[in-house]
Amino acid sequence: MTEIKEGLKGVVIAQSNICFIDGAKGELVYSGINIHELAEQAQFEEVIFLLLHQRLPKQSELSELKSFLAENSTLPGAVLEILRQLPKDMEPMASLRTAVSTLSAFDPNLDNTELNTQQQRILKLCAQIPSIVAAIERIRQGKEVIAPDPKLSLAANFLYMLRGEKPDEIAVRAMDVALILHADHGFNASTFAARVTTSTLSDVYSAVTSAIGTLKGPLHGGANQQVMQMLLKIGDQDPVDFIKKALANKGKIMGFGHRVYRTEDPRATHLRRMSQQLCESTGQQKFFEMSQKIEQFMNNEKKINANVDFYSATVYYSLGIPADLYTLLFAMSRISGWGAHILEQYKNNSLIRPRAEYIGPRDQHYIPIAQR
Ligand code: SDX
Repeated sequence: MTEIKEGLKGVVIAQSNICFIDGAKGELVYSGINIHELAEQAQFEEVIFLLLHQRLPKQSELSELKSFLAENSTLPGAVLEILRQLPKDMEPMASLRTAVSTLSAFDPNLDNTELNTQQQRILKLCAQIPSIVAAIERIRQGKEVIAPDPKLSLAANFLYMLRGEKPDEIAVRAMDVALILHADHGFNASTFAARVTTSTLSDVYSAVTSAIGTLKGPLHGGANQQVMQMLLKIGDQDPVDFIKKALANKGKIMGFGHRVYRTEDPRATHLRRMSQQLCESTGQQKFFEMSQKIEQFMNNEKKINANVDFYSATVYYSLGIPADLYTLLFAMSRISGWGAHILEQYKNNSLIRPRAEYIGPRDQHYIPIAQR
């Protein structure tokens, strides 16, 4: 009798230099550096470099990376045209998936798979995805698409392109920390999807498109949008009563639980604090208070902790970002982790191809249709 590892729970299939998670202790480490130190001291651009090189950049390398990102954050006109042609009510994650897939058509030397060329592709995607996300929002609002300002950081540029005005320092730092917190998380479903695609020696755009499609699901990156929609739906109702009813109907409470963490998700620690600060400073404290009541109930009654998606929802809400863009913000950050894993897979590849235990019918024979 073959032992089935449903959902690959607990299965280790490779060694990696990129991310360490201790689910029992609630520890998250990017290439040796604890997420708490990075959230408190780093810039997202430093984390991009760290994930790709397993070390922090020197000042000259950071400046060079920032220049590269600034120089490569504009989109081919044809991609903007395609975004304009898409139905206005298309799911934004589907629009992002379409745009990233289309970018492959504008890559002059797609068949060049040397590692440094692949790395440049990934850095270009790190630069272009925020521009795509902002363009998706501006186009569906019927507003002009704002070109990136090369003087701004990636986080600041995104908010500028989204809103059409220079963002304040508090909003920029909140966005920067959110990008750091979402950058990588080991062999999560979307990263694994990128690695499976890469393991066939398919191209970077196909691997990232696979990852975006996987992140979209509500059990993964789609949860943050569902959290905000739940909080808005609760409105003035008692949040705990709402949750009890949902649980009684066998529903999953979005933003809670995790395949690996058996204690608090260390990212939630930072996002909870940011949510409290931003909700209070923007007059949205009712959403933070509602979140706290839900979290206390889930912790005490269900023994289930908040994950990265629970408080990121109210952080983004207080920044004035529409709920159906939240998973795209997740992708804006996670492209750095996906890219690091894609490169790592290329460097030491083995086709990823598990088996299944067949339990279907046996010894059947073809019967001509006239006799069926
Ligand atoms: C992300 O993998 C990663 O690293 C992902 C991620 C990353 O950075 O890439 O961390 C990002 O995807 C975070 C997770 C976002 N998803 C959600 O918030 C959706 C809600 N969460 C659940 O669907 C669930 O917790 C999962 C999918 C995240 C994990 O589920 P598992 O590991 O498959 O565990 P399970 O669903 O079997 O749950 C175990 C028990 C079950 O009870 P029983 O059926 O055994 O009685 O806990 C219960 C579950 O019902 N449970 C929940 C729950 N999560 C688990 N019950 C209610 N609400 C929940 N959220």
